[in-house]
Amino acid sequence: MAAGVYRSLSQGLRRITPFGSRLYSDEVRTVTLIPGDGIGPEISAAVQEIFAAASAPIKWETSDVTAIKGPGGKYIIPQEAQESMNKNKIGLKGPLKTPVGKGHPSMNLLLRKTFQLYANVRPCKSIEGFKTPYPDVDLVTIRENTEGEYSGIEHMIVDGVVQSIKLITEPASRRVAEFAFDFARAQGRDTVTAVHKANIMRMSDGLFLKCCREVAEDYKDIRFEEMYLDTVCLNMVQDPTQFDVLVMPNLYGDILSDLCAGLIGGLGVTPSGNIGADGVAIFESVHGTAPDIAGKDLANPTALLLSAVMMLRHLGLHDHARRIETAAFETIKEGTALTGDLGGKAKCSDFTREVSKKVQEIE
Ligand code: NAI
Repeated sequence: MAAGVYRSLSQGLRRITPFGSRLYSDEVRTVTLIPGDGIGPEISAAVQEIFAAASAPIKWETSDVTAIKGPGGKYIIPQEAQESMNKNKIGLKGPLKTPVGKGHPSMNLLLRKTFQLYANVRPCKSIEGFKTPYPDVDLVTIRENTEGEYSGIEHMIVDGVVQSIKLITEPASRRVAEFAFDFARAQGRDTVTAVHKANIMRMSDGLFLKCCREVAEDYKDIRFEEMYLDTVCLNMVQDPTQFDVLVMPNLYGDILSDLCAGLIGGLGVTPSGNIGADGVAIFESVHGTAPDIAGKDLANPTALLLSAVMMLRHLGLHDHARRIETAAFETIKEGTALTGDLGGKAKCSDFTREVSKKVQEIE
């Protein structure tokens, strides 16, 4: 990521990170760690081991996010996890399982709603030395995280007819558009592309697009483009290098960001950050709990590790971020400690040990 911009303030040196303004210091920061389910605890332990090897000034406060019912029977985030996040503002999260069709709702959605995590950011950058069909991908998807088809408003009109409401509001659209342009500017990127289907969903996507256009007026230094979702998909698989920052409503972002993860090696290597109001941010790997390999020491911790690297940059800890990222990329490039998803035979613990060793050798 591009170097942050510095600005002197009365209370000291402050760094404007791609995600906002942060005090720049090496003081120990407490981070809420939500290990999650399935492979979550294994990959979280791997990140903690590598951070310890890098002497990263992070203190982990571990919290469980098992679904519990609150007063009135509604599912809520456990009180302890809520309090930890409210206090620390920054979280690192492993995957959480969601039962299909019955039981508790998605805890991921609940976390997003509880902490108003309105923008999901996924950088997709080719990893040097790891061969994929496209060698030079370097794009970022920014997904509106709180509404659209995921607003959860569904009902049955009559037997056999179900209606699902796609909710688009001006404040949420404007907020994520502003975040996309701020992000592009802070990262030294050129272009923001609004991805939409306003030709079909004229009112809902039309409003989203209108907000993007209006926000673009205030960022004349960043090129603004607009493109239909289907055209983006076609162009993405033909030549992903033509894209820079893409901003879009919730459902499109969910699907397109996974497609983009596939371009650089899959879910095992793709990080993400969820940015919220009042300085709250939760960084997480984008893959699920991988029940087929859970508890077998086979998981690839790279996605969670790179999410933790994004977190370090968000906190202004750029030097630690660089060392850890370099160690991870060098390990992947060398290819001797690759986990199964990347075509290797190494265990999660082998990969972790190798990155931990390298990070101590990097200046
Ligand atoms: P999944 O991502 O867990 O697994 C898909 C495939 O990718 C599996 O073969 C798995 O072994 C592999 N895989 C995933 N992450 C890996 C890693 N780090 N290293 C090596 N291989 C990896 O997707 P699935 O099976 O659809 O979902 C399982 C559970 O996870 C469900 O309950 C789902 O709701 C939840 N989930 C949670 C997410 C989150 O918390 N952000 C995101 C996606 C799914």
